[in-house]
Formats: sequence, structure tokens, C-alpha cells
Amino acid sequence: MKEITVFSPATVANVSCAFDVLGFAVAQAGDRMTFRKTTQKGVGIVMKNFRELPVDPERNVAGVVALAMLQKINPDFGVSIEMEKGVLPGSGMGSSGASAGGTAFGLNQLLGEPFEKTELVKFAMLGEALASGVAHADNVAPNLYGGFTLVRSTRPLDVIVLPVPALLSVSLLHPLIEVKTKNARNILKKSVLLKDAVTQWGNVAGLVASLFSNDFDLMARSMQDGIVEPVRSLLIPMFYALKQAALDAGAIGCSISGSGPAVFALSADMDTAEKVTEAMQKVYAATEIPFETFTSHIGKQGCRILNDNKI
Ligand code: HSE
Repeated sequence: MKEITVFSPATVANVSCAFDVLGFAVAQAGDRMTFRKTTQKGVGIVMKNFRELPVDPERNVAGVVALAMLQKINPDFGVSIEMEKGVLPGSGMGSSGASAGGTAFGLNQLLGEPFEKTELVKFAMLGEALASGVAHADNVAPNLYGGFTLVRSTRPLDVIVLPVPALLSVSLLHPLIEVKTKNARNILKKSVLLKDAVTQWGNVAGLVASLFSNDFDLMARSMQDGIVEPVRSLLIPMFYALKQAALDAGAIGCSISGSGPAVFALSADMDTAEKVTEAMQKVYAATEIPFETFTSHIGKQGCRILNDNKI
């Protein structure tokens, strides 16, 4: 194989109460990445859009992942990575996770699949560490595995793939303002009260149980975040108006996507999700803030091959 093009999905991390541990893939939003073997060793990066992102591989999320993988294998060729970002940097929809996970997946294919999926998550976490200062895995795990994933532990890495209720759909509204994950993490309180922790882990467990039982009432009761959302919502204009509009339009739950500013809502089916997106759109249409929206199924598959060239 000389080159391969892959689709690397957007992801929603945290899923309300489950900060840094739960995440899911979005079927209809993501990056397109092409990996080509080059005679010159090393890693080259070509940005097809977002040309302001660094192309020095040591300062690029995809670059650090590729360098680490090549260092392990030491092949007699290099790789050029062409990136077309569909997940906007700083959106909260797993942009760095898509670059990192897509590289781990695509380069592994180009190398003849020497690495297991867990190893790919570990490589991709290097990209997250570069982007946000913390090697969290709640974007790269669903990006690589698809569906909902639970990162029970990062050291050692323990990823559990959870079931996805068949018709569960997501609405996303992304205000076009940038929130850097690093900043959105820095503003969080470093400790929580035991009573708040008890409420939170009750909700995380309830949310996980609801995925197994398809119990959307339980999912609705569990999508409550008393720790992170109250702080980060301050960075998102009209957050509570968006949330109320989504719930009024029939969403099961609504919260911040990853570190924001995108806001996501889950719905029992696509028809409801479309109504929810419309209701969220109306809230932002009344403001001056530009935004984009997505309505999508949960991405049951993670990164996938679009085409390869086996000449
Ligand atoms: N769990 C991470 C955070 C996700 O909320 O900071 C970042 O997309």
C-alpha cells in the first residue's frame, strides 16, 4: 500500500456528567486524512485548510503521533500526512482527537497494521497531551472504537466499548468562538465535595446503565452534571437558553460537548434530533454570534478507510 485516505470522526467527550471518561463518535462530522509513503524518512504535514495550524511535526497533533509510531517501527520510508479538517479546532467536538486518532488509525494501515487498537489509543493520547497538556482519552477512544466508550482508567489504559441504543441521535450547535481545552480545564475547581461526587458517580453509573437497557428516562435523569457544566457554561453565550430549548423540543439531555463551546443534545431518534437542532438554531439566530449545526446518528464505527492505493 502506498497511500490511504481515512475518515476520522468528530466526538463528544464527557457526555454531561462523565468528565474525562465517557465519549461517543459522531457519524456525520469528521476529518479526511491521506497518508502517503515518501522515500525521504520522517513526517511531512500538509494542511488543506486551517493553514494556520503548525506543520512542524513536533508541534502538530498528527505529527507527534506519527513520529512516535515511526520511531517504534523504523520503516525504510517516511510519511506525508494531508489533512482536511471537518472538525473545527477549538470547537469541543474532538478536533485534536480526530487528528490524533485518524493518524494512529491511518498510519497503522499504511504500516500493515502492526499495532493493536489499545496501542493506537495510547499513540493518539500523545496528540491530546500536545493539544491540551493532558493525555485524556475520552475523545480518541470513541474516535478509534466508534460508538460510546468508557475510559475506566488511562494508567493503565482500560477502554470499555458500550452499547449504542439503535436510533439514538445527536444535535450539535457550535458557536463559532474558540475555547481552548487547556483554558477550559484550567478554570475547573481542583477538588469537589464528597456529596457532589456521590451525586456525580450515581449519574455516571445511571447513564452507562441506560445505554445497556435503552432506558431513555433513566438517561434523562442521569444527564446531570453538577461539577463541570456550571463552571464551563460561563464560557458559552446563551448556554442555558440552548439547553432549555433542546429539552423543550424533546431532547433526552443536553450539555457541553467536550470542553465546549459546542453544545450537544441526545434524542431518541433522528426526527426528534432534527427538531432539537432547529430549536437550538432559533436561540442562536436571535444573537449576533455565528454558528454551525450538525444532526447525526451516533457513529457506530470509528475511523474508517475511504480508499487505498495498493499499487
Ligand atoms: N474531557 C476533556 C475535557 C475533553 O473536557 O477537558 C476535551 O475535549
